[in-house]
Amino acid sequence: MHRQIIAASATLAATLTLAMPAAAQDTCAIAEDRFDMEEAAVIALYDCMSERMVTGYTKAGHEIAGQYRDWQVTSTRPAVAGPHQNRFLQTFVNDIAAGQYLKFEEDITMPVGSILAKESIGGKDGVARVGPLFIMEKVADAPEYGNWVYSGVQPNGKELKISQKFCHDCHGGYDYQDSMGYPLEEVRLTAN
Ligand code: HEC
Repeated sequence: MHRQIIAASATLAATLTLAMPAAAQDTCAIAEDRFDMEEAAVIALYDCMSERMVTGYTKAGHEIAGQYRDWQVTSTRPAVAGPHQNRFLQTFVNDIAAGQYLKFEEDITMPVGSILAKESIGGKDGVARVGPLFIMEKVADAPEYGNWVYSGVQPNGKELKISQKFCHDCHGGYDYQDSMGYPLEEVRLTAN
């Protein structure tokens, strides 16, 4: 009898754990070798982190942080490209940018008013952490930086302190595609 009760409560506990919504979990798991994570594990990681990112980025009323999730996502799932500190990256683009960005072409110039916002997920010791939201906005008057203004939002919603030069020193290496890195090829969401 005693044994049965223990078995029953163990089953109940297991059911509760499984039924618990992702957002209610304390932490989200990230593999030690994140380059090696299976697609399903990456999608589970994103499900677990999705609300946490928006909650963090919007904490201080940042305008783009409050909008970007309504924009066009550009990849089928987040991926680790290497730059941006080996974080999982997922980029959203506004209406002005979407048509051109989703072609992932070279020899193009993005229209002025394009805004690209990239979520990032990092982590340590198997526990995922929200990374900054990285932003690029196309303007007409920043020729030194490919007419891009770089910015970012910290996981606590505050403006990320960055230097235009730091970001553009790397992005400028992609000058053959208007200084954009684009998502890894295997996760690109093509418009067709
Ligand atoms: C060491 C190189 C490097 C540095 C430094 C860097 N980036 Fe990136 N960034 C990349 C690469 C490569 C990609 C494309 C990879 C991906 O998104 O999966 C990218 C993608 C992006 C995107 C998505 C749009 C696109 O396709 O390029 C944004 C927005 C962005 N970075 C903003 C920033 C900001 C803001 C900074 C400065 C704080 C910065 N980056 C610094 C390499 C860099």
